[in-house]
Amino acid sequence: KIVPVILAGGKGTRLWPLSRAAAPKQFLQFIGDKTLFQKALSRVSDCTLYEAPVVVTNEEFRFLVAEQARQLDIGLAAILLEPVSRNTAAAVAAAATLVRDRFDENTIMHVLGSDHEIAADDTYFDCVRIAAATASVGKLVTFGIQPAEPATGYGYIEGGQPLATGACVVARFIEKPLLANAEEMLAAGGFYWNSGMFMFSVSCLLDELRTYAPETIRAAGEAVANATTDLDFTRLDKAAFAAAPNISIDYAIMEKTSNVAVVPSPFQWSDLGSWDSVWKSSNRDEHGNVAAANTTVVNTKNSLIITHGVHLAVQGMDDIAVIASEDAVYVGRLEDSQNVGNIVKMLAAAA
Ligand code: GDD
Ligand code: MG
Repeated sequence: KIVPVILAGGKGTRLWPLSRAAAPKQFLQFIGDKTLFQKALSRVSDCTLYEAPVVVTNEEFRFLVAEQARQLDIGLAAILLEPVSRNTAAAVAAAATLVRDRFDENTIMHVLGSDHEIAADDTYFDCVRIAAATASVGKLVTFGIQPAEPATGYGYIEGGQPLATGACVVARFIEKPLLANAEEMLAAGGFYWNSGMFMFSVSCLLDELRTYAPETIRAAGEAVANATTDLDFTRLDKAAFAAAPNISIDYAIMEKTSNVAVVPSPFQWSDLGSWDSVWKSSNRDEHGNVAAANTTVVNTKNSLIITHGVHLAVQGMDDIAVIASEDAVYVGRLEDSQNVGNIVKMLAAAA
C-alpha cells in the first residue's frame, strides 16, 4: 500500500485577505462544503490503495489539521509538526525519514499538496496506479497536466521517452519560468504543468536528497531522530530543523535530478493558488463574473467578487478581483493575482 503524505504548511499569501497567517487557504472552503485540506484527505481515503495519511504542517496549524480530519472521520498516521517553516524540501525530507522509520525504505509515498481542486474519478486513479508502478521501478514521479496558458506560477515538465509503465521519462523540469520562457514552452509543445503531487519510494527520495540537498536531509533526519511525540502529534526538533535551507522540493530536487518521470494526467486539476485561478475554477455567470453572496455587481465583466464581511458593490469594472474579509479589502486586476503575496510582505514589514 501507498503512504500518503499531505503537505499542509503553506502560507497561501496570494489569497490574502481571506487566507491569513492563522488560517491559510488549505483550511478554507472555496468551492463546495469541504476545505482544500479535507479534499486532499478524501482523495487518499481509499484504504484498499492507501495507508493512513501522514500530514506535515506547521506547529501553529495542529488543531486545524486534527479537527478537520476528525470532521471527516479520517484517522491520521501522524501529524508531523514543523517548529519553523523551511519549505517543501525539508517537509518532504522529514516525512520520508518518518515513513522509513515506521515502515521501510521500499515504501511508496504519495506526496500531495493541499491547495488543489481535483476530480478524483477513474481517470485520476488510473494515473495514481501508473505513478505507483513507475515509482516502484525507482523513479521520482510527477503528474503532468496539459497546460492551458503560459502561467508562471507552476513547474514545467518536458516529456521524453515513454516507459513500460505508461509514464514518460522527464527531459527537463523548469520550476516557475519567466513569462517569455513559459510562452516558448507552450508554443513548442510537449510540455506539461507539474501538478504539485509526487510519488516515489522512500529510498529513491533519500538518495536524491543525499546527492542534491545534503543539508536538508541532515537537518530533517536529525529533527526526526530528536522529535517528541504526544498523541498524534510528532514535533520535529527545533534546533535541528531550523538548520534546513528554505527551498522547495521543485528547486532542490526536481530541477536537478535526471531521475524524474511524468504520468500524462488528463484528469481535471486546478491549483487554487491565486485569485485568477479561483475565478477560472468557479462557475461564472453570463457576464463572466463570480460574485459571492452579499455582493451587488453592475455593468462589470469577468471579475471575482467575494466577501466574508461587509457588503460589496462593484460598478463599471472589468477583469478585477475585489475580496473582502472581516477586516481588510483587496482590489486588484485579476492579471496581477500572482503579486498579491508582495502586499502581504509589505504589511508584515510595516507591522
Ligand atoms: N508542511 C509544509 N511546510 N507544507 C508546505 C510548506 C512548508 O513549509 N510550504 C508549502 N507547503 C504546502 C502548501 O500548503 C501546498 O499544499 C504545497 O505545499 C505546495 O506549496 P505551494 O507554495 O502552494 O507551491 P506552489 O503552488 O507555488 O508550487 C508547487 O505546486 C505547483 C502546482 O500547484 C510546485 O510543485 C509547482 O511545480 C507546481 O506546478
Ligand atoms: Mg500551490
